[in-house]
Amino acid sequence: MSDQPALPLLFTPLTLRGLTLKNRIVVSPMSQYSAVNGEPTDWHLVHLGKFAMGGAGVVFCEETSVSERSRKTYDCPGIYTEGQVRAWRRITDFIQGQGAIAAMQLGHAGRKVATRAPWDGFAPLGEQDAANGRPPWAGIAPSPIPFKEGALVPKEMDADDIRRVIALHVDAAKRTRDAGFGILEIHGAHGYIIQQFLSPITNHRKDGYGGDIQGRMRFGLELMEAVREAWPAELPLFFRASCVDGRGGIWSLDDTVVLARELKARGVDVIDCSSGGIEGPLTLHLVPRVPGYHVPFAERIRKDAAMPTMAVGLITEAHQAEGYLQAGQCDLVALAREMMWNPNWPTHAAAALGMDKPHEQLPRPYAWWLQKREDVRRISQA
Ligand SMILES: Cc1cc2nc3c(=O)[nH]c(=O)nc-3n(C[C@H](O)[C@H](O)[C@H](O)COP(=O)(O)O)c2cc1C
Repeated sequence: MSDQPALPLLFTPLTLRGLTLKNRIVVSPMSQYSAVNGEPTDWHLVHLGKFAMGGAGVVFCEETSVSERSRKTYDCPGIYTEGQVRAWRRITDFIQGQGAIAAMQLGHAGRKVATRAPWDGFAPLGEQDAANGRPPWAGIAPSPIPFKEGALVPKEMDADDIRRVIALHVDAAKRTRDAGFGILEIHGAHGYIIQQFLSPITNHRKDGYGGDIQGRMRFGLELMEAVREAWPAELPLFFRASCVDGRGGIWSLDDTVVLARELKARGVDVIDCSSGGIEGPLTLHLVPRVPGYHVPFAERIRKDAAMPTMAVGLITEAHQAEGYLQAGQCDLVALAREMMWNPNWPTHAAAALGMDKPHEQLPRPYAWWLQKREDVRRISQA
């Protein structure tokens, strides 16, 4: 028998298709509203780069748009030009140079376009913005229902629009690979276009893309099928789902299980479990904000759709994260705000879980010195 303590699951590598993640810690997407002409900047390099340096296994960039007009704000990034591919490449090279996997989250805001930043309440752009060179534009959506008062009415998508949006995702998936990302996630949550089709609140269509759950899932499933074909077979594809949404459970966890099974049949590898976003103010939470608030969703989908899941939402402690993995509630844990607070969270988690030489989670120019400091401390305490 070996004297070595068992490696915590949090630090046990995970292989998805042909890609091995060095640990199960994922930095969740975090929009920065700091892109210029849709290109990520030095801000993104440092913001994302420090998470890779801190030891995360996967670093997600923020929601990145498949076209100029599908962006939420003028300051959101995209991946619809070669310049954007080059700008992302610089960042993925750095992330992967640190031993982490760079992950892309592709999105299309549908009706939720042309807003201000969150610190301006995601207010729809108006006359004052137009006067400052930022005129609003109308989005597209399954049905012509604006996302909030004051927003322009979105165009109801016809068959050509549906084909075009799927093609935009396929092109963006190819560019994502050119930009050096190893994981691709499609944003199917938070009131983005796929969820606008899924939810009866925003989808009033009478054609084959509306009606019952089969009709409402059709757009998202066709899109995922096309993206899976365009994304390399050896690389994993994730889908972020709002597992519950809408008043009175109008989109339920049971619905998400049905969706997850269909996505799995189309080659989706991981369901990234989130919630909400289809309507109402951002501060109105359907799911109470307790530690690990999406974990029960990840657990149910993992069991009933028999596929890997990722949980997110107030996961802040090493033992908490390890506990979810040990209990089989999810396969990956994702952290967003905690990483802002402490970008070296993975390294500190390794220490908290009693791993030998936790500093080795950090790059050598740091690890060597921190180990020296530890040795000196041990000697002085002996
Ligand atoms: C600043 C910020 C920006 C976010 N941007 C995105 C985004 O681009 N895409 C997305 O799916 N979720 C986004 N989220 C949600 C996070 O990925 C995460 O699901 C949520 O913050 C809960 O995790 P936490 O409690 O660890 O912060 C964002 C959250 C924050 C705090």
